[in-house]
Amino acid sequence: MSSWPFRVGFGEDAHRLEAGRRLVLGGVDVPHAELGAVAHSDGDAVLHVVADALLSGLALGDIGQYFPDTAEEWRGMDSRVIVERALALVQERGWVPVNVAVVVTLDRPKLGPLRAEIARSVAALLSLPEGDVGISFKTSEGLAPLHVQTRATVLLARLLARVDAAPGVGGE
Ligand code: C5P
Ligand code: MG
Repeated sequence: MSSWPFRVGFGEDAHRLEAGRRLVLGGVDVPHAELGAVAHSDGDAVLHVVADALLSGLALGDIGQYFPDTAEEWRGMDSRVIVERALALVQERGWVPVNVAVVVTLDRPKLGPLRAEIARSVAALLSLPEGDVGISFKTSEGLAPLHVQTRATVLLARLLARVDAAPGVGGE
């Protein structure tokens, strides 16, 4: 690994949608969703990409390695646990997330009214200010109506190498 104190992580996830299931995004239950995610866990495609983005930034693999979708113990699990685990793996190595950008592609329902709540929920999980979590919504323009797709990038910074802690920087 190079000595640069920054890393970019990226994640991508998708779930099939079906009637009679919950739709949970970023830890927020989407009210009145006609379709919900088919998944082994709670199917939270926002938290899954955030966790994968955190892991990928430090080349730590992906969430399937830590939470196999064949394991009975993870059935229906709250995906916040997945993000907490990914964050712990990053923090144990001396890194922290700086900001996160998430794109959710979903035709229905409109998610705009939930943007702030989802951003707050993701930010709280990562101990970030709400303004450091950007959430964008896109439709698939009808190309994938039975599908939720998510993508996320995260910037990671190494705690012990902050520029303002470097010799000669910051006023000495
Ligand atoms: O994908 P498209 O460009 O058509 O999205 C138009 C607008 O609809 C965007 O401003 C987006 O925030 C919003 N949107 C939404 N909920 C979705 C999909 C898109 O609020 N499920
Ligand atoms: Mg997923």
